[in-house]
Amino acid sequence: MKVLVTGGAGFIGSNFVLHLLERDPEIEILNFDALTYAGNLENLRAVESDSRHRFVKGDICDHHAVAEALDESIDAVVHFAAESHVDRSVEGPGIFLRTNVVGTQVLLERLRQLGHLDRQRFVMVSTDEVYGSLGPSGAFTETTPLGPNSPYSASKASADLVCRAYHHTFGLDVVTTRCSNNYGPFQFPEKLIPLMIANALEEKSLPVYGDGRNVRDWLHVRDHCTAIDTVMRHGRSGEIYNIGGNSERENIEVVRFILDHLEKSHELINYVTDRPGHDRRYAIDASKIRDELGWEPQIDFERGMGETIDWYLAHADWLDQVRSGAYRGYYEQMYGNRGAHRG
Ligand code: NAD
Ligand code: DAU
Repeated sequence: MKVLVTGGAGFIGSNFVLHLLERDPEIEILNFDALTYAGNLENLRAVESDSRHRFVKGDICDHHAVAEALDESIDAVVHFAAESHVDRSVEGPGIFLRTNVVGTQVLLERLRQLGHLDRQRFVMVSTDEVYGSLGPSGAFTETTPLGPNSPYSASKASADLVCRAYHHTFGLDVVTTRCSNNYGPFQFPEKLIPLMIANALEEKSLPVYGDGRNVRDWLHVRDHCTAIDTVMRHGRSGEIYNIGGNSERENIEVVRFILDHLEKSHELINYVTDRPGHDRRYAIDASKIRDELGWEPQIDFERGMGETIDWYLAHADWLDQVRSGAYRGYYEQMYGNRGAHRG
């Protein structure tokens, strides 16, 4: 099987590339990534000399580059490439619409031109954030109406609808996954868990938004990779599959877990001004993928978190390399003028 992975140098994409290479001796991977601030080829150092993996630097919005990479030899496109950070989408929505909506349409259009509708599958890696925010109870199902609240989630929901249209109108073999929050190795330290680990290690304050009681459903990235692999091979064309970890936690619980694991003081916690439009709670009903495709998460949250924190400890060089350079400027921009308040 030959797979075009877009965004395969990012957090989940690189974990997915490593997962496929480990699991499938016959796999061929073409990894297509623009190497934005979030793309890091260090993530793939272990497979640098593996002939089953080839990297191509390219932008999914560039028709010519996409046409060159996506030819008739490709059996499946697994589409991770995106702008993925909600806070960045609040600072500058434009790039989110360009990459996440237009980039997705460029890929779909290329598949339409190729015309091999029954043998070139497109896996749209979407997010639970397209559903919006939940109250204290209930969970998102695949039929929950879309209600995105941030420019990021609006761009992902728009891309999902474009996928739906290409399936219904042109007959493309599209399957969409909507997953909850991931954690694990190689996550860029702008996201909650790696940011808090990195700050705790340096004994810098840990910026918790609002009252810290927003809830996310955490899933280890390896579990997400097995779910996407399952959907790529066995998912029903045109369907949507929710993916979740059954691990709802308040942000403050996650932050305290990290501090306790690292034996650092809770005094480092700093409640700061809330994220604008901050979704209160996400929870996933993943019974469809379990019942239809037999997928269930395997990694318990406490075990997965312990391993993840230890991974960042053991890969201080990776963290240093990512935390230097562009990331520092970004950090100042995001947190420099975020005043402290009492949570
Ligand atoms: P990430 O930001 O770590 O990686 C994104 C990758 O896409 C980077 O390698 C980047 O270089 C690449 N990219 C960005 N713009 C590009 C372009 N124009 N052309 C080609 N490549 C480009 O993101 P992630 O956290 O790994 O998320 C991957 C996908 O999974 C995204 O589509 C995201 O919406 C989705 N998702 C993420 C989570 C999560 O918790 N992180 C949960 C559910 C779904
Ligand atoms: O639900 C899936 C989504 O999860 C993905 O689609 C996104 O790509 C991914 O970024 C993630 O979005 P979140 O906004 O939930 O993740 P983030 O790590 O940015 O924040 C998690 C929670 O922690 C959220 O409630 C905001 C809060 N937070 C985050 C940061 C960065 C803080 O309290 N302080 C922080 O510094």
